[in-house]
Amino acid sequence: MEKYLINPNQKIAKINKDIYGHFSEHLGRCIYEGIYVGENSKIPNVNGMRCDVVNALKEMGIPVLRWPGGCFADEYHWKDGIGPKKDRKHMVNTHWGGVVEDNSFGTHEYFELCRQLGCDTYVNGNVGSGTVQEMNEWVEYMTFDGVSPMAKLREQNGSKEPFDLKYFGVGNESWGCGGQMEPEYYANLYRRYNTYCRDYKQGEHLLRIACGPNVDDYNWTKKVAERVKWRTDGISLHYYTVPTGQWHNKGGATVFDNNEYISTIYKAYRMEELVKNHIAMLDSVAPNENMKLIVDEWGTWFDVEPGTNPGFLYQQNTMRDAIVAGLTLNIFNKHADRIMMANIAQTVNVLQSVILTDGEKMIKTPTYFVFKMYKEHQDNTLIGSYITTDKIKSKNDGDREFPQLVESASIDENGVIYSTITNTSATKAAKIKCQIADRKVKSVKAEILSGECHDKNDFDNSDAVKTVEFDGFRKLSDGFTATIPACSVVKFTIE
Ligand code: AHR
Repeated sequence: MEKYLINPNQKIAKINKDIYGHFSEHLGRCIYEGIYVGENSKIPNVNGMRCDVVNALKEMGIPVLRWPGGCFADEYHWKDGIGPKKDRKHMVNTHWGGVVEDNSFGTHEYFELCRQLGCDTYVNGNVGSGTVQEMNEWVEYMTFDGVSPMAKLREQNGSKEPFDLKYFGVGNESWGCGGQMEPEYYANLYRRYNTYCRDYKQGEHLLRIACGPNVDDYNWTKKVAERVKWRTDGISLHYYTVPTGQWHNKGGATVFDNNEYISTIYKAYRMEELVKNHIAMLDSVAPNENMKLIVDEWGTWFDVEPGTNPGFLYQQNTMRDAIVAGLTLNIFNKHADRIMMANIAQTVNVLQSVILTDGEKMIKTPTYFVFKMYKEHQDNTLIGSYITTDKIKSKNDGDREFPQLVESASIDENGVIYSTITNTSATKAAKIKCQIADRKVKSVKAEILSGECHDKNDFDNSDAVKTVEFDGFRKLSDGFTATIPACSVVKFTIE
């Protein structure tokens, strides 16, 4: 029996709702088809945005959406995507599949989407192939509410009022697709571009994000952070879970053996080490700044579904993905004092999506249900929690280990406690005895997402994996006992 202690007296940090954020790029069928179908589509839409997708994302509790990329961001020239649609430039999306980008989804459409979703906004600017003036004018266009050329242009295009822009990324993967730069060079460019990203709205500060490291490139973090320091509100980290660790043969989304399953979870759990080490590096470089980390690309990355365009990054999603999501979100919660935002890649039809579409059809993936289950953590206070657990060894990774149970707990303003536990073992249940410090427990409710690790939803069977009520626990006066089934994510609500 594992021991689980939750201490509501130990209030650690507010869990920024934006940790539950998403990412949508002009890539494959994410924006076009997946989200935006245009006003004339047969698919029910409001101003071109698919109603089914918007409703599902709202129900899941999407707090913030990053756009327009990714690699696409560093080739995106925002003026191509404003004004009458018939006049917008057609161009080649060179990064992703070489398809024609007609720019029918641009700045106004993005803010309209976020308005419909009721979520916050995160726009990523172009440092790789864009100019300082272009970036400066985009920020002016989006946020200035006085008399200026860009505010006037925005009004001509139908929006007198400025948009609500919360975060702005100054470049994306500048060490790779965003310009192949060295950290010192990027840091100096950041300082220059950032200078002209003005705070146009009276009394409001635009949160700027500097391009951070790829995986464990601590040198990038060090060099950028020591040069950028107070000039940024956060530094980003990109880390994808690739089961084999090899980009030319990543492993299939639905076909994998037990060792590959374990290796996937081991690699996903590396997020804990990466977050800790990058935060330690930020602190060693800028001990008084309390610099924040933004994990604005994370998730599983498999080989594309057979027969689909390799440049579209379309992959299925199974209970294995749900376990990756469950454990990663618990890791983010536990570091809520330093992680300001995270954005899983990518919302619809690309990589670890929460939604897949096929023409008029739409399905919710196992990952969707994890986000929905965890939504109560958003803006709650992280509280102390400790669990004993077995360790699982990954043969494919030199017998390195990761925990079988990964958990986190939060409390809301009414004193209700939420605890989410991921059992990462594909085969072994775990018995736990939970004690809540200094509390008489009135009631416990629970929900579960579980299955065999290959289980998935598809267009013929869209309901195979879903959250159900969980009754595998017994309430005690100061806690509960429970058996957490293999390959499951469980949420306890404790009053
Ligand atoms: O999410 C897909 C791609 O992965 C993004 O465009 C890029 O930033 C990263 O390499």
